[in-house]
Amino acid sequence: TLERVEVIDLPKVKDERGNLTFVENGDLPFEMKRVYWIYDVPGGQERGGHAFKRQQEVIVALSGSFSVKVNDGKQNATYNLNRSYYGLYVPNGLWRHMEDFSTNAVAFVIASTCYDEDDYVRDFNLFKEKAE
Ligand code: TYD
Repeated sequence: TLERVEVIDLPKVKDERGNLTFVENGDLPFEMKRVYWIYDVPGGQERGGHAFKRQQEVIVALSGSFSVKVNDGKQNATYNLNRSYYGLYVPNGLWRHMEDFSTNAVAFVIASTCYDEDDYVRDFNLFKEKAE
């Protein structure tokens, strides 16, 4: 359900020399297994339009900005990410995609699983049927 989606305020070490944010295992609602990042996204493109059966994740706009849209099969919610110290927690079982990437945006994803194509649900109608 969408109520489980939340913005996590990551630690921020403010410094005149530049700020620093970190994540340690144990800080997130899951144990991290993998990170990946999406970058060089041409204007108007969408990424990540699918659901995961098992993967939980935290999405961070490391640079620039973009929107994450989540859908539980019935309702939508939109989160605009534009700070590198906010992490959007997305539990498994939700449809999600990213859009409105700014120039030079970097979407950093901390995931609870290693890559497994079998974990993907790529058919929205199938996802909706199962959610009902
Ligand atoms: P995918 O998650 O399908 O991105 P999108 O939903 O935006 O299209 O990933 C695109 C391709 O990248 C996928 O077909 C396989 C590859 N990939 C990996 O090999 N390892 C990974 O960790 C990820 C996330 C993707």
